[in-house]
Amino acid sequence: MKLFIDTADLKEIETLAAWGVLKGVTTNPSLLAQVDGDEMSIYRRICELVDGPISAEVVASGRAGMVEEGKRLAALHPNIVVKIPTSAEGLAATAVLASQDIPVNMTLCFTAPQALLAASSGARYVSPFVGRYDDIGNSGIDALREVVEALLGFDSEVEVLAASIRTPIHVIEAAKMGADIATIPPKIFYQMLEHPLTNIGLEKFNQDAAARQARQAG
Ligand code: E4P
Repeated sequence: MKLFIDTADLKEIETLAAWGVLKGVTTNPSLLAQVDGDEMSIYRRICELVDGPISAEVVASGRAGMVEEGKRLAALHPNIVVKIPTSAEGLAATAVLASQDIPVNMTLCFTAPQALLAASSGARYVSPFVGRYDDIGNSGIDALREVVEALLGFDSEVEVLAASIRTPIHVIEAAKMGADIATIPPKIFYQMLEHPLTNIGLEKFNQDAAARQARQAG
């Protein structure tokens, strides 16, 4: 499973890209609202920082507007993926963009039927939201599994992109069930890395290495 970062914060992207683990980036209007600067410049900089699919979301609501905005976004860089919400207008816009070889990430997907529609319209990625489903008392992981299974036999290159990830457990569950990608907020990357036994073990190795060096020197 590929790991994407879910943020528009350039500093965070730069830091995590330096770990060598990022295969792509997702953004959305709410994430962009948390940072300053011109949107197009932010997308361009993200494309410089990470060599992989970079999702940039349309804010237009009708299909014609989505197509026009999508084309503008796609023209920024070959790695841009146009993110479009799951709706009738979104499906229609996706079909047009896909027919012009512009990749689409269909977002705000919560069910397998929605995912099948997205895949049928030509979406390259489908993004089931795990955490937001949990928020309303359902199992986001079960819903994600339904999507993964429903698209198993689907005759296209559509990839399941697990989104709205809130914990490292979400990431592991997504990996175990065979989701293609998980897009992960920066803070969850740090949680994935940290373990007290790793820290204790490293401290002991450092102490023992220092003690040995002192003995050799003396
Ligand atoms: C990414 O593609 C989604 O927009 C994002 O993961 C949503 O996450 P949230 O539910 O934490 O806002």
